[in-house]
Amino acid sequence: MALINDNYLKLKAGYLFPEIGRRVRAFAEANPQAKVIRLGIGDVTRPLPPAILKAFHEAVDDLAKVETFAGYGPEQGYDWLIDTIIRESYNPLGVQLKTTEMFISDGSKCDCANILDIFALDNKVAIGDPVYPVYNDTNVMIGRTGEADDKGYYKGIVYMPCTEANRFIPALPSEKVDIIYLCFPNNPTGAVATKAELAKWVDYALANDAIILFDAAYEAFITDPAIPHSIYQIEGAKKCAIEFRSFSKTAGFTGVRCGLVVVPEELTGKTATGEPYSFNKLWLRRQTTKFNGASYPVQKAAAAVYSEEGWRQTSEIIEYYMENARIIRQGLASAGLAVYGGVNAPYIWLKTPGGMSSWDFFDKLLTECNVVGTPGSGFGPSGEGYFRLSAFGNRDNVEEAVERIKINLR
Ligand code: MLT
Repeated sequence: MALINDNYLKLKAGYLFPEIGRRVRAFAEANPQAKVIRLGIGDVTRPLPPAILKAFHEAVDDLAKVETFAGYGPEQGYDWLIDTIIRESYNPLGVQLKTTEMFISDGSKCDCANILDIFALDNKVAIGDPVYPVYNDTNVMIGRTGEADDKGYYKGIVYMPCTEANRFIPALPSEKVDIIYLCFPNNPTGAVATKAELAKWVDYALANDAIILFDAAYEAFITDPAIPHSIYQIEGAKKCAIEFRSFSKTAGFTGVRCGLVVVPEELTGKTATGEPYSFNKLWLRRQTTKFNGASYPVQKAAAAVYSEEGWRQTSEIIEYYMENARIIRQGLASAGLAVYGGVNAPYIWLKTPGGMSSWDFFDKLLTECNVVGTPGSGFGPSGEGYFRLSAFGNRDNVEEAVERIKINLR
């Protein structure tokens, strides 16, 4: 009989969002009259902007004609998309990248998971707590950890608590680590890091030969011009950081699927015999073997995000969500809750009232307000006593959810 990958058995529970979905479905089936408002998973609700949709349609039509038909594309993405992203989204930040340093994919979640393929198992990994669960769970799945303790911390991973005391920005680890996951604007806390804060991490990584895996999936939601959008705005970062970006939340692509990874050519790790080796080469090898590229129409749609019309329409949607964030933040603060995030990020992180556990508060909101959020403890032990609301809902639903919660907490 074939042996299974036992590492999967170390995982504590089902993946967070399907588990929430299961509980919400059970509630909705038992209470069919309840109008449930979902502000749990960060899934977008606005349709694709017209300029992007037009490009998407035209690209599908291209597939219908011999002259314009596209089969397999380059595994790392079409140059015309990569060059557009570099020109429109990185150069304005003062960041120069080569076409060969960017890899287009079908989403950031897969990239964050797949990147582990190019690192040896005996690297020491540091992750935030709370954290986007994919970073933790994929390290468990690949076999980098031991079992979890009673709190949910896996042996072998260095956890960096993100708490009210440190404004949800983790401190540098006290022990030497080789790989550090950072996510700013942060999922789930909505915290952002200044250039000075990121510079500390880059300095640490350079001094310790460590690699930063920088998840910038929410960079488009930054409203403060002083906050960096990319780790490469920090001097030296090209020698120590891989960056992930996503079209999911930025341009409504959660169902369309498109993301990107930047692996600078200067970035090296070392072989078992101590020779330096390029991570860019490894990632190219990995992608060309295991991936056949994001689809042609999807990449055409992604390129249209950066057209003048496309970006204007995309920005309006981003503003719409950030107005939702403001409504949630202010509404819940006026109800006496301690709220964080929601200014440069589409997530609001709140402290549960009366020291309630995260899952108890989840049940209370679901059963008494028919509002779905995400329990903070689902993102890690330090998330206990917190709760996340997503700003990606429809305006009417967001307003109604805030009113219901305010009335409930009165
Ligand atoms: C979230 O709600 O944390 C995200 O939508 C999950 C994801 O992007 O995979």
